Parts: sequence; structure tokens; C-alpha cells
Amino acid sequence: MVEPLLKVEGVRAYYKLGRVFVRAVDGVSFEVNEGEVLGVVGESGCGKSTLSNVLMMNLRKPLVLVEGRVLFKMGNGFLEISSLGREEVKKRLWGKEMAVIPQSAMNALMPTIKVRKYVEHLAESHNIPKEEILEKIRIRFQEVGLDPVWLERYPFEFSGGMRQRAVIAIATLLNPQLLIADEPTSALDVVNQKIFLKVLMQMKKRGIVKSIVFITHDIATLRQMADRMVVMYAGKVVEVSPLEEMLRKPLHPYTKGLLDSVLTPEPEVKDRGITTIPGAPPNLIDPPTGCRFHPRCTYAMKVCREKEPALVEVEKGRKVACFLFTEEIA
Ligand SMILES: Nc1ncnc2c1ncn2[C@@H]1O[C@H](COP(=O)(O)OP(=O)(O)O)[C@@H](O)[C@H]1O
Ligand code: SF4
Ligand SMILES: [Mg+2]
Repeated sequence: MVEPLLKVEGVRAYYKLGRVFVRAVDGVSFEVNEGEVLGVVGESGCGKSTLSNVLMMNLRKPLVLVEGRVLFKMGNGFLEISSLGREEVKKRLWGKEMAVIPQSAMNALMPTIKVRKYVEHLAESHNIPKEEILEKIRIRFQEVGLDPVWLERYPFEFSGGMRQRAVIAIATLLNPQLLIADEPTSALDVVNQKIFLKVLMQMKKRGIVKSIVFITHDIATLRQMADRMVVMYAGKVVEVSPLEEMLRKPLHPYTKGLLDSVLTPEPEVKDRGITTIPGAPPNLIDPPTGCRFHPRCTYAMKVCREKEPALVEVEKGRKVACFLFTEEIA
């Protein structure tokens, strides 16, 4: 029986810039289930990092929650974290229930503050004895392949791969149920990407974290990892699907385009013949009318410019927002 751990219901989160809004997350609903790796994919500028901040309720000006709810499973019920302030969510959930590896993780650690200091700060904010948490991080460091002597070193001395492993060790120290990883491997070389993904999957296998939301612009990274996928385009969810089924038969033309661009069996082949989606994601201050993908879609019809397609279930467990799949057109 699949149980949701986190529910996102009709969320709109906009950057308020004077009198205009950047509609970065615009009417998004989905669930993160217990025990799953949920991949979130979309090109740069589609609202993925904004979404990760929404999931954590890490809302800071100019980002505001305009509409919708975010609920997190606590005990037998759900806590509506979107009704709490950022500080409250931070105090009650961050680190303990949900943690994030932010997109800027390479800079998440200040170069001149010893890693031990970050851990001590975590102890202070959760009233945990320092010695207890230091013992924990020493073990966790070894588990992620870092010698604990590095706790006494400065982040600028770390390689990129080591820094990212230090970040995941700290983020998961209190065994949060949900880990959100925003482009965690994008700045790493191939070898360190592999090491990091192995560490991440170990964390899940050992039950240190229950569920993972893995955000990336590179759908290929998720090929061996994700259970289900959420495809984002221009602030909207356009497809939700189990990974295997999506790879076998992508529904939304955008998903098809993403797969054609990057999913080829051999990297050498990929370098030779990339099929890319023409154009770029729109400006989210004034996105296209109707289906936001219509200016780039080879299947676009008149209705696509006029009406917005709703995200509807078309097969068990598969949802798509595209008029090609709605009865109205068929
Ligand atoms: N602090 C900000 N102020 C204004 N606009 C922002 C800010 N951060 C992101 N945006 C805009 O929000 C949109 C989505 O950005 P983002 O969530 O970072 O997308 P992604 O992570 O998919 O690349 C983009 O149009 C981006 O320019
Ligand atoms: S709704 Fe129309 S424009 Fe949008 S993806 Fe489907 S066919 Fe293309
Ligand atoms: Mg991002």
C-alpha cells in the first residue's frame, strides 16, 4: 500500500518583483510517497529549485506562496506546513523530518568555517549534546567515505566530490524522512557523480532517509534511480509517471523531447546525434497562453493556444497535461 509522505495541493508560488510576478510554480499538485525516489525533471528555468523551496516551506522574499497547501505526514496525520511560518517549519521539521541539499551545495559550506562548526550548530538548534552529535558525524563521515579528520578542516581544502559528500552527511545526520536533492551531481565530474549517487542510494537502502526527491535537468541521471517521475515545464507539472513506463512510452511531447535529447544508450552516440527541443523555456512573468509548451510543440493545435490542458490521469498511475490525450480532442 502506497502512502504519501508529502502532499502538494494546487500550489502557486511566485516571485513578487514590484508589480509583476514571476510565476515559477504555478498550480502544481503531486505527492511524494513513502519509500520512493521521486525524480523531478525539466530544463533550467522551469521552477524546480523554487519547488524545492516550496516543499521545505523555505519561502523568503520575493518568493511568496500565493495559493495551495503543502502537507507533511507526522504520526498518523498530516501537518499543513504551508500554514506555518518559515521559522516554525525550520524549528519543527528541518533536519529532523526533511532536509535539503540545495542547488548551490558547492557553496553551502562557507570556505573558511570548519565542518565541525556546522555540526555543532545543528546540535545547538536541536538541543542535542555536542559530543553525541560529533560521535554521530564521525561515523557518518566514514560511511560516506570521508576520514573524520576532515571535520577539523576547512571546506576550501575539500575537493568538489568530498564537499558534496560532507553536505549529504550533515543533511542526513538526524535521519530525516525526506531528503530533497536539488541538482546534487550537476557540478561533479563523472567519477564523483557515481560515488555520490551510490552514497545517496545507500542512505535510502539503510533507512537513514525514507524518501528522496531528486531534482535534475538531466533525465539520464535518474535512469537507474527514480521510481516515479514528475516532469516540470514552465512552472507546471506536465507529466507524472512511473519511471519505467515513462521511458518505454513518454506521453507529453515535452517528455518525449527531453528523452530524445539525452536518453541514448551510448554516450558516444549522444554526442553525435542530439535531437533537441527547438527554442527555450518561456519567461515566467508573461508565459504563453493556453499550453505553455505550445510555441515549441510540433503537435500544437488551435486549442493549445487558447486553453490550458489540465493534468489528468490517462492510465493507472500516469498523468499528463496535454490535449492529445483528452477526449475533447480525440
Ligand atoms: N530570487 C528570484 N527572484 C526572481 N525570480 C527568480 C528568483 N529565483 C528564480 N527566479 C525565476 O524563477 C523561475 C524558475 O527558476 P528556478 O526555480 O530556479 O528554476 P530551475 O531550478 O528549474 O532552473 C526562473 O524564471 C527564474 O528566473
Ligand atoms: S497541449 Fe498541445 S501544445 Fe501542449 S503539449 Fe499537448 S499538443 Fe503540444
Ligand atoms: Mg534549479
